[in-house]
Amino acid sequence: MAVTIKSEREIELMREAGRILCKTHQELKKIIKPGISTMEIDRIGEEIIRSYDATPSFKNYEGYPASICVSVNDEVVHGIPHPKHILREGDIVSLDAGVLYKGYHSDSARTHAVGEISDELRNLMAVTKQSFFEGIRYAKAGYHIKDIGKAVQKYVEANGCSVVRDLVGHGIGSHLHEAPEVPNFSTLKRGIKLLPGMTIAVEPMVNLGTSDVWWMEDDWTVVTADGKASAHYENTILITEGEPELLSLPEDMMEEE
Ligand code: MF3
Ligand code: CO
Repeated sequence: MAVTIKSEREIELMREAGRILCKTHQELKKIIKPGISTMEIDRIGEEIIRSYDATPSFKNYEGYPASICVSVNDEVVHGIPHPKHILREGDIVSLDAGVLYKGYHSDSARTHAVGEISDELRNLMAVTKQSFFEGIRYAKAGYHIKDIGKAVQKYVEANGCSVVRDLVGHGIGSHLHEAPEVPNFSTLKRGIKLLPGMTIAVEPMVNLGTSDVWWMEDDWTVVTADGKASAHYENTILITEGEPELLSLPEDMMEEE
């Protein structure tokens, strides 16, 4: 599938999907406490999304059984919610969610602390989030896809962490996953040139130890090969001539972040 340029009407719908998704993350952040199950987080997340007449993009996507991907500690992404998986003090938990609104998707991820966490984990979360912002300095018309990943990788490695190579960001619009692929690391190819109206999801997955990951028996849950922690931060963004517009983090909703 070719990379598409979105019309003003499509962008407006993606803004609305992004607002709903941002609100969903802000509500979910409030319920992250020791004792809650990952299944309960999924149930509440789905309820919030549906309350806005939207649909969870992930539900049944290629057979994924839930609405929110809930990934704890060494789980990198695509953790499957389970009633017996209870969050404990000191854990970190990544919530990845998608919203489909009037035919258009938004996709974003946040990583939260469960109660008090170690300085090492707090630093991992901060590095992961900042690496997204370092990357999108190059998410502007005229730069290439590679410029984003190169900046993410440079920042992550300068801070003693590693970037996952086996999963990448992506174009997004009327499909959850569209061209182009958006790696969070430097690649041989420079990738397509960015143009105004392109919409992409930039989503660094950052590990404390090795960048190597494994897939669990459920064929979904991705875990670090060394069992050390991993964090995830993602937004759906719109490419413009200037600064990118964060569709899943609208400016007037930023202070709650
Ligand atoms: N944000 C993730 C991604 O872009 C989640 C989608 S996986 C799903 O790959 F199957 F759960 F939907
Ligand atoms: Co994504």
